[in-house]
Amino acid sequence: MNKETQAQETQAQETQNDKSSSKDVTVKISNLHKVYSRDKLAVHVLKGIDVDIYRGTIVSVTGESGSGKSTFLNLVGGLDVPSRGSIVVNGVNIVGLDDNSLSRFRNTQLGFIFQFHYLLPDFTALENVMLPYLKMKYDKSEGEKRATKLLNDVGLGKRLHHKPSEMSGGEQQRVAIARALVNNPQIVLADEPTGNLDEDNSDMIKKILWELRDRYNLTVLLVTHDLNLATQADRMLKLKHGTFMNKTEYFKND
Ligand SMILES: Nc1ncnc2c1ncn2[C@@H]1O[C@H](COP(=O)(O)OP(=O)(O)O)[C@@H](O)[C@H]1O
Ligand SMILES: [Mg+2]
Repeated sequence: MNKETQAQETQAQETQNDKSSSKDVTVKISNLHKVYSRDKLAVHVLKGIDVDIYRGTIVSVTGESGSGKSTFLNLVGGLDVPSRGSIVVNGVNIVGLDDNSLSRFRNTQLGFIFQFHYLLPDFTALENVMLPYLKMKYDKSEGEKRATKLLNDVGLGKRLHHKPSEMSGGEQQRVAIARALVNNPQIVLADEPTGNLDEDNSDMIKKILWELRDRYNLTVLLVTHDLNLATQADRMLKLKHGTFMNKTEYFKND
């Protein structure tokens, strides 16, 4: 690292420290490493990541293909286990939780949005959104109420009874966003949510994510290679050589 980059890093770190005194840390990641072994070869993907994610912020994660963005998101989401380090979510270190606690953590605190929506083809929008709620708590009328409200939030109040094949790609992704929120998560993890959409639909998804963040005070980790989207986040993290290069922050209200 040259002197200039070092100075920038220190400056970014200081800015971050200033913010942390006034902001609530939702996810605190310390010394996070991930090593995969493939054909007896160790691939060291994440090499000691330290970052605090503040409540109510949208943080974009960029980086070249293969840089470890999905690996990072999957670790934060408890879908994979780190080789070293800790991930403290709302005061609880999720590393080392048993399978039951981890799946409870995922179901109650996290909403996942992926590039492909994975909606169930034989179910309507309303049913697709309700399902994760019914898995947690079998209360059909409450599930319907929540799902209807969320589908209204994403502008699909008139598509409740449509099946995925009867909706456009952008609409399907909006159903997936509503589904991610049905259990009232505080944190949303999105992996290339606009990766499969054209520009107009990407803009729509962007608008919806920002609106939902404001409405529900969500903390959003947004993996994307779309720089247009990434630069509009409150903070942009760029993954390179296993760590975040910069910790640029764009706090809207400062
Ligand atoms: N389950 C796995 N086993 C072995 N290697 C993996 C596994 N998952 C990812 N990798 C490797 O880790 C690196 C980072 O992958 P990934 O996190 O998917 O990158 P990105 O999402 O930034 O494109 C890649 O070199 C990939 O091949
Ligand atoms: Mg990826």
